[in-house]
Amino acid sequence: MKIVSQIKEPVNHEMEIFEEKFREAMSSKVALLNRITYYIVNRKGKQMRPMFVFLTAKMLNNGEVNERTYRGASVIELIHTATLVHDDVVDESNKRRGFFSINALWKNKIAVLVGDYLLSKGLLLSIDNEDFDLLKIISVAVREMSEGELLQIEKARRLDITEDVYYNIIRQKTATLIAACCSLGACSVQPQSLDVETFRKFGELCGMAFQIKDDLFDYGDEKIGKPTGIDIKEQKMTLPLIHTLNICSKSDKKWLINSVKNHNKDKKRVKEVIAFVKDSGGLDYAVQKMLHFKEEALKILSTYPKSTYRDSLELMVNYVVDRKK
Ligand code: IPE
Ligand code: IPE
Ligand code: MG
Ligand code: MG
Repeated sequence: MKIVSQIKEPVNHEMEIFEEKFREAMSSKVALLNRITYYIVNRKGKQMRPMFVFLTAKMLNNGEVNERTYRGASVIELIHTATLVHDDVVDESNKRRGFFSINALWKNKIAVLVGDYLLSKGLLLSIDNEDFDLLKIISVAVREMSEGELLQIEKARRLDITEDVYYNIIRQKTATLIAACCSLGACSVQPQSLDVETFRKFGELCGMAFQIKDDLFDYGDEKIGKPTGIDIKEQKMTLPLIHTLNICSKSDKKWLINSVKNHNKDKKRVKEVIAFVKDSGGLDYAVQKMLHFKEEALKILSTYPKSTYRDSLELMVNYVVDRKK
């Protein structure tokens, strides 16, 4: 069986119901909006976040989920979708999930407003049902994601990023939402339990590995459904480059910084930078760090009793670092 179907197996039923609820949660009376959300739901992503929500909830609650779990999963996927729509505006990226991005098709103005719409629909889904504990988890993630994206822009302007700042950026922009998936999954079924915090930590570790993997994709040329090689163009310094800057000679460092600062739109020069990072072991270093976060996540899981849900979460953690898109 394909690895993704194997991961999904124990939550197939929940994922089916989720998809219907997610579609409903997006609908609007405005025809233009409906056209765009229709476009979005027909190009669904990997749906890893709702899978994290359901697997965590079922693992901690003898295989049972409830309406709060479903709403939580929908809210998270709505917010995830909203941030991707905004992120493609910010990154001037014209491709997402193998098709044109919203900004590529409808321009920035519309993409910004659609992102806001999806965000508000997500928050309202929690508010209307008085899921205030879940809303708190989600709102923290929303705040962190905006801060993370802005910190990243600040660092891209000054080109003075360190490894620690990089971890802070990816923790905020990506890991917090995956942390929210797992703590929300736990909270939806066992609101008072210590597992809410343990699973927040678990999700955060998965999220760190997840974003390092995403940043590694940018150095490759495999077809992943979105552009590669755009980070340097956007002056975004990620772990492979940061490590290379830390270990290379002074003159190489000067050349690298100058390339990113003044020649970042020059395709040939960017290719040279990528080759230099590869030769310096920048990718290997990032892989090693990614695997470290993965191992830490697996350690947390291993403290829980074995079950089909735990097995799936284990496969999921491995999928985070082995995935092809
Ligand atoms: C992309 O997330 C955004 C990042 C945090 C890197 P996913 O890779 O989960 O996106 P989809 O939903 O599968 O398209
Ligand atoms: C991830 O940022 C998106 C958010 C967490 C908001 P990236 O810009 O690195 O992700 P991709 O590669 O476009 O999906
Ligand atoms: Mg971005
Ligand atoms: Mg992006």
